[in-house]
Amino acid sequence: MTKVEQDSRLDRVGDRLQKVVLGTLRPRRLRDLLHGVPLGHPLHPAMVQVPVGAWISAAVLDLMPGQRRPATVLVGLGTVSAVPAAVAGLNDWAALARDQRRVGLVHAAANTVGLTLYAGSLAARLSGRHGMGRALGFLGLSTVSLGAYIGGHLAYKQGAQVNQSVSELHRMTDGWHSLADMATLPQRTLITREVDDDISVILYRHGDEVTVMLERCPHQSGPLGEGEVQEIDGHACVVCPWHGSAFRLNGGEVVQGPSGNDQQILPTRIQNGVLQTRLP
Ligand code: FES
Repeated sequence: MTKVEQDSRLDRVGDRLQKVVLGTLRPRRLRDLLHGVPLGHPLHPAMVQVPVGAWISAAVLDLMPGQRRPATVLVGLGTVSAVPAAVAGLNDWAALARDQRRVGLVHAAANTVGLTLYAGSLAARLSGRHGMGRALGFLGLSTVSLGAYIGGHLAYKQGAQVNQSVSELHRMTDGWHSLADMATLPQRTLITREVDDDISVILYRHGDEVTVMLERCPHQSGPLGEGEVQEIDGHACVVCPWHGSAFRLNGGEVVQGPSGNDQQILPTRIQNGVLQTRLP
């Protein structure tokens, strides 16, 4: 898998496919929906539950006598539901870093072969060739299992679409940390401060309310402190300078992708005129 991460020969196909995906999924609202922005959680891993569940169940039924009909229904359900799951995956893939896109390309290729095998399995079953349908189904399950293994590497080893900022919380020490003197804290301006000397947070004051948010963007660790504050859907949001993900400053909800994750807001209090924060 490390060799795949480093194999630049995959970039020729990957770069072309990325252009096709970005050119096809143009409306921002559609891309955000597929990233999982309305959920505050990536959509692709949730969507793959349906085809994977249906296909595994069909494989179990294929091993039992007299279960042709329900097995065919489940193969059909898995095949149809895999299409939107694949579209959501491609949308996420197009916003990944280059080494992640290489592995993602192999993940997508394995799943495309698996999906094709299942489409063949469905066609065979519907035309009465159940032996062939079962064989293609088992081959399809083996291939999508390989795809799932590669997808696991992409998520757990390479951190694709996982929240990149949350690990900051694990490094923060307990107790209240002083951040700024309220008397000198400007209104409606992004300020960057550090907690425990190396955990960056951003401060945004609106009247007497102050938001303290982790600075590292959940998408790919972009510096939110260098981003802009924009009004989106009636809420002040910080927009990441790297790929444009936007997070509400009064709650941390993601309102614009490619991040599919919300950003972490930290609790605050004011002690003797000094703004302080702590772990949630
Ligand atoms: S790092 Fe990609 S949107 Fe922030």
